[in-house]
Amino acid sequence: MNRPGANRPLTALVLAAGLGKRMRSRTVKLLHPLWGRPMIGWVFDALREVAPERVLVVLGHQAEQVQEALHAERFEAVIQQEQRGTGHAVMTARPLLEGAAGELLILNGDLPLLTGPTLAAFLERHRSAGAALSLLTTHLDDPTGYGRVLRRDGAPHRIVEQRDASPDERQVTEINCGVYLVDVAVLLPLLDRLGTDNAQHEYYLTDIVSALAGAGQMVQGVVHADSREVLGVNDRRELAEAAAILGRRKRHALMAAGVTLLDPDHTYIDPRAQVGQDTVIYPNVWVEGASVIGEDCVIRPGAHLIEVRMGNGVTIKDGCVIQSSEIGNGAQVGPFAHLRPGTYLCEKVKVGNFVETKKAFLGPGSKASHLSYLGDAELGKDVNVGAGTITCNYDGVAKHRTVLEDGVFIGSDTQLVAPVKVGAGAYVGAGSTITRDVPPGSLALSRPPQRHIEGWAERKQKRAQAGRPAPQKKDEG
Ligand code: UD1
Ligand code: CA
Repeated sequence: MNRPGANRPLTALVLAAGLGKRMRSRTVKLLHPLWGRPMIGWVFDALREVAPERVLVVLGHQAEQVQEALHAERFEAVIQQEQRGTGHAVMTARPLLEGAAGELLILNGDLPLLTGPTLAAFLERHRSAGAALSLLTTHLDDPTGYGRVLRRDGAPHRIVEQRDASPDERQVTEINCGVYLVDVAVLLPLLDRLGTDNAQHEYYLTDIVSALAGAGQMVQGVVHADSREVLGVNDRRELAEAAAILGRRKRHALMAAGVTLLDPDHTYIDPRAQVGQDTVIYPNVWVEGASVIGEDCVIRPGAHLIEVRMGNGVTIKDGCVIQSSEIGNGAQVGPFAHLRPGTYLCEKVKVGNFVETKKAFLGPGSKASHLSYLGDAELGKDVNVGAGTITCNYDGVAKHRTVLEDGVFIGSDTQLVAPVKVGAGAYVGAGSTITRDVPPGSLALSRPPQRHIEGWAERKQKRAQAGRPAPQKKDEG
C-alpha cells in the first residue's frame, strides 16, 4: 500500500471516563452488560479489526472496575479525575500523545454496535482522501440528543450539540457518531484552543471541526448508511435497543450460515455463541455466553443454555437448564433436566425428565431417564440409573464421590451414600440404600425383606365397626 498514511502508526483513544448520568445507575455506563459482557468490551472487538499499535483509554468514574472488566485487553489507561467534556478527556491523554507520530482514531466508549469492518472502511476513506480530520456520521429520523453535523459547500464546518442548537439546526438529521480520525500532529495544537463557551460548560471535542474548517483544512464527513451500527448508548432504553440489534445481527448471521430458527424474534443467542449447520432451534430458547452447539442438533422450546459445549446430533428437549456442561454427540437431554456446572455427558447418553446433575461424568450410552440426582458422580459406559436414584454426596461437611463402573444397573429409588463405588456389571436392587462398595458382578440389596400379614384388612374393618381401638403391640395383627 502506498496511499498516504497507510504505513503510519495508528493509535486508538477510547473515551470512557463518564458516569453516564442518563443510565440512572450506581454502575458506570460502560460496565452495563450487553449480552452478559460490559458494553465497553464490544468496542474493543471492533478496534481489533484495525489493529492499532497502541490503545489508550481515558478512565474516570469507577476506573478500577472498568480496568478489571478489560483485563484481557492490551491498553494504556489515562485517568481523567474530573469529567469536563470529551475535549477535556482528550486533553488528559495529551502526555501520552506528545511523542506519538501518526494517526489517531478517537472514539466514544459508548458505541457497542460499531463493527470492525466499518472502522476499517472509515480508516481507508480517511487515508485515501488525505483529510486533516474525518468524522463518521449518519442520518437519523430522530436525531434528538446527538451533535448535528453542519455542512458548508459539502464539507462539515461545525458540529453543534443538541443543547446548543438553534431550532433550524435541530432540523438537521446528519449526526456526529463520536468516531474521529485525525493526525496527532494536527490535533495537539487544536486542544489548546478548545473552550467551554457552551450550554454544558464543557470542553467539546467536536469543536476541533470548526477550528480546522475555519483554517481552511479539509474536514471529511463519512456518512455511514446503516445507522443501527453507530447508535450511542446513553440510557436503558438505548441499552435494550443495542442488545436487540446485536441479537438480531447474530440471528441473521446464523440463519445465513444454515441454522434454522423457527421463530427468530423469540430466540436469544449470545453473539459470542457458535451454532452448527442444520441445527434447529425452537422459540424461547436462550443461549448464553460463548456456548458451542454442534451440527444437526435440536433445541426445543424453553431450553436455557449457559456456557455449554455440545457435539453434533444432540437433542435438548423442552425446559432444560444447562450450565457450564459438555454434551457429546447424539445425547438426549430432558424435558426438564437441570445440568449444573461440571456435567459431562459422553456420546449417546440419555438424561431424562427431572434429573439434576452436578460435577457428573456419564460414560457413553449411560442413561438416567427419570427423577434422579447425580452429583460428584462418575458413571462408566452403559450404566442404567433407575428412577428416583439419589447420590447422597454431601455429609454436611464435605462432598464425596460416587463411582458406578461400566454396565452397572441401579434399581429405582436407590440412595448411593458417597463415597461409594459399584463395581462393573453389578446390580443394585430397587429401594436400596448403598453405604458400602459393591463388588463387580454382584447384586446388592439393602431393603428389609417383604412380609405379609394374612387377614389384616378384615380385622381392621371389624375393629372399626365395633369401635375398638387398634392394638398397641408391635404386631399390627
Ligand atoms: C457525544 C458528542 C456528540 C455525538 C455523540 C455520539 C461531544 C461534545 N458530543 O455526545 O456530538 O453526537 O457523542 O454518540 O463530544 N467522556 C469522557 N470524559 C468526559 C466526558 C465524556 O471520557 O469528560 C466519554 C464518555 O464516557 C462517553 C463518551 O466520552 O463514552 C461520550 O460522552 P457522552 O457524554 O455520552 O457524549 P454525548 O452527549 O453522547
Ligand atoms: Ca453518548
